[in-house]
Amino acid sequence: MEKVKTINLNKEFGAVRAVQDVNLIINEGEILGLVGESGSGKSTLGRLILNLLEPTSGEVVFEGKPINKIPLSELRQKMQIIFQDPYSSLNPRMKIFDAIYEPLKIHKKFSKARVAELLDLVRLPQSFISRYPHELSGGERQRVVIARALALNPSFIVCDEPVSSLDVSIQAEILKLLKDLQQKLNLTYLFIAHDLAVVYNFCDRVVVMHDGRLVEENTPELLYKDPQQEYTRKLINAIPKKLYQLLA
Ligand SMILES: Nc1ncnc2c1ncn2[C@@H]1O[C@H](COP(=O)(O)OP(=O)(O)OP(=O)(O)O)[C@@H](O)[C@H]1O
Ligand SMILES: [Mg+2]
Repeated sequence: MEKVKTINLNKEFGAVRAVQDVNLIINEGEILGLVGESGSGKSTLGRLILNLLEPTSGEVVFEGKPINKIPLSELRQKMQIIFQDPYSSLNPRMKIFDAIYEPLKIHKKFSKARVAELLDLVRLPQSFISRYPHELSGGERQRVVIARALALNPSFIVCDEPVSSLDVSIQAEILKLLKDLQQKLNLTYLFIAHDLAVVYNFCDRVVVMHDGRLVEENTPELLYKDPQQEYTRKLINAIPKKLYQLLA
């Protein structure tokens, strides 16, 4: 089943055509990688899909319905986003309990016991509820951000470079957690990444974005082995050699 579909999607910021004629399908239960250089339009596309941004033209369809016909509260429950920087995604003056409880309170769903359940899901100890964000490591903070995103039981999550600000060893841990959660909760992800190395073992399918356009699409394996575009080849060559040998 098609979870998300974009039809001739365009977004202009003045003279900048951030997203150009994007036709994309994200199937239910898949992890779709979206890669491209900085400024290629990845985050803009992610925000358009979540209806956080209005397109200049074109349409986004979610579960068969145009997103502008879906009530906002329903959208915010079903679709979530996880950002790169777990520092700025959490209010420094809010304890972990309140950070995770906030979306539950707003949507008047679930009980306070749900917070404990969510901490278990992201494998954080219950004792963390009384801590503040600065009392956590970067990886732990990103787990809290993930718990918060999962609070309302969404079915689709845009992960916008969720591991880019973390140490390499912690990156692997968080990717493993995201993958486990995706399988356990039958989630669909749009997974945005700068470089191809991160998506290699993680995504079912990868689309490459260049100057606002989708220029190539394949499984990660075939994309590495046989890139069709010069631009994709450049992205592959930008991966540190050591890492590439590990992947190949
Ligand atoms: N709110 C905005 N106002 C004006 N221009 C914007 C806005 N948001 C994005 N842009 C422009 O749109 C283009 C695409 O930006 P976007 O943030 O989508 O790229 P990206 O692929 O996510 O980059 P990165 O990998 O650095 O996060 C850029 O030229 C950017 O400057
Ligand atoms: Mg971005």
